[in-house]
Amino acid sequence: AALAGCGRPADGPGTGSLLTSAVPLPERFRTPLAIPPVARPALSNSAGEHIVITQRVAEARLLPDRTTTIWGYDGIFPGPTIRARRGRPLTVTMRNELPVPTSTHLHGGVTPADSDGFPMDLTTPAGYSPAPPHQHGAGARVHEVSRDYRYPIGQRAATLWYHDHRMDFTAPQVWRGLAGMMIISDDEEDALPLPRGDRDLPLLICDRAFEADGSLRYPMRDMSMASPGAGGEFLSGLFGDVILVNGVAWPRHEVANVRYRLRLVNASNARRYRLGLSSGAELVQIGTDDGLLAAPVTLPEVVLSPGERCDVLVDFSAYPIGTEVTLRNGFGAGPAGEIMRFVVTRKAKDDSRVPARLSRVPVLTRADAARVRQFDFRFGGGRWQINNRPYDPAGSLAAPRLGTVELWRFTSDFHHPVHVHLGHFQVLSRSGRSPEPWEGGWKDTVDVRPYEAVEVLVRFAGHRGRYMLHCHNLEHEDMAMMANFDVV
Ligand code: C2O
Ligand code: CU
Repeated sequence: AALAGCGRPADGPGTGSLLTSAVPLPERFRTPLAIPPVARPALSNSAGEHIVITQRVAEARLLPDRTTTIWGYDGIFPGPTIRARRGRPLTVTMRNELPVPTSTHLHGGVTPADSDGFPMDLTTPAGYSPAPPHQHGAGARVHEVSRDYRYPIGQRAATLWYHDHRMDFTAPQVWRGLAGMMIISDDEEDALPLPRGDRDLPLLICDRAFEADGSLRYPMRDMSMASPGAGGEFLSGLFGDVILVNGVAWPRHEVANVRYRLRLVNASNARRYRLGLSSGAELVQIGTDDGLLAAPVTLPEVVLSPGERCDVLVDFSAYPIGTEVTLRNGFGAGPAGEIMRFVVTRKAKDDSRVPARLSRVPVLTRADAARVRQFDFRFGGGRWQINNRPYDPAGSLAAPRLGTVELWRFTSDFHHPVHVHLGHFQVLSRSGRSPEPWEGGWKDTVDVRPYEAVEVLVRFAGHRGRYMLHCHNLEHEDMAMMANFDVV
């Protein structure tokens, strides 16, 4: 349906079709917000941390009155939040007790290629067979039962997220629950008077649809076996009609009349959000995908496409006790137009401030670019493609040099949130105009809208090797809208 009429779609939730739940939609803002537990290191010493996470089938309470079978990191959705510290290397052992192979990508991570969660770098459950044919293709590697991902954590404080990245199955496997957050802290951020502790809220936002029995609805008979696109089924992206924050449908959260920090993560498969407050109060943006901005930006709303993050301060001190403030979604119709509700229930002392300067962020310019490359995200040949090619696991579209900056130009036919692994970038222009006010600083995902040409300056730093760029509409990703590049 989204492909009907090739005109310019109005700005909205993105490219996709709406799945309607068979279960009656739960009443909004009754269930308390959940904060995912922090992963406890199995080991922590002078060499760094070691965390063990088991991917398994579990029952979760996503809806107030039904249980849902999920695939979760440690059996929960979202997975445990990983707290990491700049300069403290982290090893995550991922154990796979699911019925399917997995690969885990740390989104926003400056990670060595062999720990980046390449789509065919699979960890299979015990006794898994037969191997899917692409496991024998170029770049295929298989670990049985468990593997270690090594993260140097040489990067600045930021809100990252980790999620499944299995070849052809990322969309259904993330939909089932394979997503969690990682929060990196550092000395620079610690020195700032920002809200802390329970006033620093990680909020992973996504949409889902449910069957009458509470199970997740996804348009396949068996999500563990079917391949999206197989059997002629074409997916342009999927929207659910239930909005979850940290795995709770339309939660409420009681707050004190002080300033809070909201780390907003759009973990949806395809849905874009235009987020703002029902009170009309402005958001003070302090960070974006890969860390703090140079200085705060005051905005009525921010737009987040799948994969993007936004770090904002909200000051509840202006409201009388008892006030309800709803986080709204300007792109959602009906219930999807609301995300969660804050209720100001108590007075408290606030020693946080909005610093005038946040971080040193060097500003890249066109002159810094060693070269220019174009990547065209477009539908063709029954697939979603980049530069007229479906994903070739053995191929590579670019070989940027380590330590250089390149200007990458993304063009599109539909909404394609473009994500680059390893290389963080700054948005330079949108069809010749300035970037949106909320997309300053260092980013790894950019919202490319229909018929736009978005220029970004990508810095390739940290590691050599094979990485990828792709559309973060996960149904597009699974339908081949990915490409490799080699940092040389
Ligand atoms: Cu968040 Cu390659 O993905
Ligand atoms: Cu796309």
